[in-house]
Amino acid sequence: MKTIDLRSDTVTLPTAEMLEAVKQAKLGDDVMEEDPTVIALETLAAKRFGKESALLVPSGTMANLVSVMTHCRHGDEMICDANAHIYYYEVGAVSAIAGVIPRLVEGKRGIFSVEQLEHAYRGQELHFPNTSLLEIENTHNRGGGSVWSMSDLKAACDFARENGLKVHMDGARVFNASVASGISVKKYAENVDSLMFCLSKGLSCPVGSLIVGDKDFIAKARKNRKLVGGGMRQAGVIAAPGIVALNKMVDRLSEDHANAKKLAKGLKDECGLSLDVSAVQTNIVVANVSPMLADDYIAEATKKGVLTLSFGKHAVRFVTHYGIDAEDIDQVIERLRSRS
Ligand SMILES: Cc1ncc(COP(=O)(O)O)c(C=O)c1O
Repeated sequence: MKTIDLRSDTVTLPTAEMLEAVKQAKLGDDVMEEDPTVIALETLAAKRFGKESALLVPSGTMANLVSVMTHCRHGDEMICDANAHIYYYEVGAVSAIAGVIPRLVEGKRGIFSVEQLEHAYRGQELHFPNTSLLEIENTHNRGGGSVWSMSDLKAACDFARENGLKVHMDGARVFNASVASGISVKKYAENVDSLMFCLSKGLSCPVGSLIVGDKDFIAKARKNRKLVGGGMRQAGVIAAPGIVALNKMVDRLSEDHANAKKLAKGLKDECGLSLDVSAVQTNIVVANVSPMLADDYIAEATKKGVLTLSFGKHAVRFVTHYGIDAEDIDQVIERLRSRS
């Protein structure tokens, strides 16, 4: 029986073209800014997002941390969603390392209104920490791959700007957002001061994330990357698949989105799980498996060769990605339909 791994889009393996690009990559010392392949990827990313500069870092977690360190001083406050990855899943790094206090907004599937933001923002007053950053996640992972609309995003970013806050977008899956919404990544980037995106998720690369921003921001971020140990030497071996990904792996994300919709419909109609099919916008499906516990459901699914992740006591996450096709989705529904 073939194992169908829907735990995450991080399980994707590099394409043959990516591996060939690694073999052919021209390399140098990237800490000395002499790796031509890294320079080519950073130039391509900056151009794609309409920003002056870009910086390659090893992971999404480091990209977020370095961005927060670059925007904020120790003791500053950052406003973000209560389920934001940066708050929920990154080991508290923004506090432990950057010294930043998150102020949480209870968004709806990770998306919050400008009114909620106004409520969270306490102003610059003697007793309060200095609020210097707004963080927005697009797509939103714990929100089930939800996408920020341009009007919500613009309203939040305008409010931030009017009040002297910088905006960082955790765009680990911003290409999924873009493909689903038809809004270009340039348009998203235009509204924020910094944006990070991951090569290692839906784009199928083995490793790497990029931060984009203006020249001055990226120069400071480069120093912070070094501070946290993220300076890499012949990083062209990481950058080479990234170039292939940006050129070849973006448009196909619509297949993952179609497969996620198909999966959601099957899980609801044929497997008896509770979920809102219309809420599935990208490649993430979150289902309620009540009355079963998520852990028990996952153990049963694993025995049937379907791998998934727990997203709460009764919530299970399924992620579609490169390497999973429509027949795999049929298989998943077939296997999860029979509870024996
Ligand atoms: C929205 C979001 N941001 C950041 C990250 C962190 O990326 P990494 O696992 O590369 O550190 C993830 C990882 O799943 C994510 O989903």
